[in-house]
Amino acid sequence: MVLMSINASDPDILSDFILPPNITAPDGNFFTFIGMRVVVGSKPLPNLKVTKATKAEFSALDGQSVSYAVLQFPSGGVNPPHTHPRSAELLFLVQGSLEVGVVDTTGNLYAQTLQKGDMFVFPKGLVHYQYNSNAQYPAMALSSFGSASAGTVSVPTTLFTSGISDEVLAKSSKTDVATIQKLKAGLAPPKP
Ligand code: GLV
Ligand code: MN
Repeated sequence: MVLMSINASDPDILSDFILPPNITAPDGNFFTFIGMRVVVGSKPLPNLKVTKATKAEFSALDGQSVSYAVLQFPSGGVNPPHTHPRSAELLFLVQGSLEVGVVDTTGNLYAQTLQKGDMFVFPKGLVHYQYNSNAQYPAMALSSFGSASAGTVSVPTTLFTSGISDEVLAKSSKTDVATIQKLKAGLAPPKP
């Protein structure tokens, strides 16, 4: 009999921590990430900024099943619908107010307007968004993940910039190719 097990989260490691090949004698610096200093007391920004501390930016997270993102929203800023295939997201709003929503696998939308101090959980793999609809004030949130590499799949980018044909997209959306091309043009990277 063949026994198979499937891990639905980051695998457990068999050592206290994992060192990258270029580090042989770790010290406190190895366990420290200073890349979030820029978000503390930063000036309001013109666009949404997501600053991540995942295994990619902070190698000590490898094998630890945790990571963070800091989300800074200008007034009117939106984080478009997306999913994280490998983790739930626990968002803590530290500044401003924020409209959030998550859609379950039966198509139900669960939306909320958060106030500073509120938390919201986006279950693993489900499509969600955040929007600062306030015309005056920025918002800032801290999101934690139960994976060192939660992954992000943006719905608009995946649909309209990955090369899926206009025909497939038009048929799937029950619309015409011209409409799809318009959507694609809006998401195309700006010409240099
Ligand atoms: C926000 O939802 C994020 O994933 O960064
Ligand atoms: Mn998210």
